[in-house]
Amino acid sequence: MDLPPRRTALKLETADAHAALDAMVGSFQTLDDYKRYLAGIAAFRLPVEAWLSQTSLPADLDGYQPHMVQSELEADLADLNAVEPKDQPAFQPPEGDGVVGLLYVLEGSSLGARLLAKRAEALGLSAEYGARHLFSQARNFSSWRAFSERMENVRGYDDRAAARWANTAFDYARSAFESALNAKYTIGRPDQL
Ligand code: HEM
Repeated sequence: MDLPPRRTALKLETADAHAALDAMVGSFQTLDDYKRYLAGIAAFRLPVEAWLSQTSLPADLDGYQPHMVQSELEADLADLNAVEPKDQPAFQPPEGDGVVGLLYVLEGSSLGARLLAKRAEALGLSAEYGARHLFSQARNFSSWRAFSERMENVRGYDDRAAARWANTAFDYARSAFESALNAKYTIGRPDQL
């Protein structure tokens, strides 16, 4: 079945960035791998969600609410005694009116979360311990459905700006994962190393 046109375009325009991220995150086979992933995803999502909660969305998205996982991420970090890298710069959106592209990346990642939740489960993590944010995303079908339908009908949509914002989101995620992979202090707090 063909995907609708705006989603198809964004998917194509971010395919390389997604593949690079996927390769970087890998398949977390150990709990330490998972903690690095968790630190990276927290360093990506927490600033972006904070930014988003201060932003008004296009009126044509009415009826859709972004699915935020800030509190689940914080609980996961606490469960596993992991900390997010502190060297991630603040999230800065690029030029133009492309917030739909950013939302596409945030909501679309819930599709991949289903796979990641299964991998986390294999490490003994769950919706109640350590992988709350993944299960919350994986079980939430309504936000992606509401968003992906509405994004095709937003009036005044600027496809170049949306692609720019989507790729900025992926760049920001990549730098968050790079910081987490390079930081020893994501595995246990410094006083417990
Ligand atoms: C190891 C990490 C990841 C894996 C294995 C993964 C895997 C996947 C898979 C399998 C899908 C397709 C699901 C489907 O079509 O039913 C998907 C979709 C998607 N993922 Fe990821 N993902 C990962 C991380 C991320 C992250 C961190 C982001 C955001 C920064 C992201 C953004 C997206 C987006 C936007 C889509 C939707 C693509 C579309 O339009 O169909 N993914 N991912």
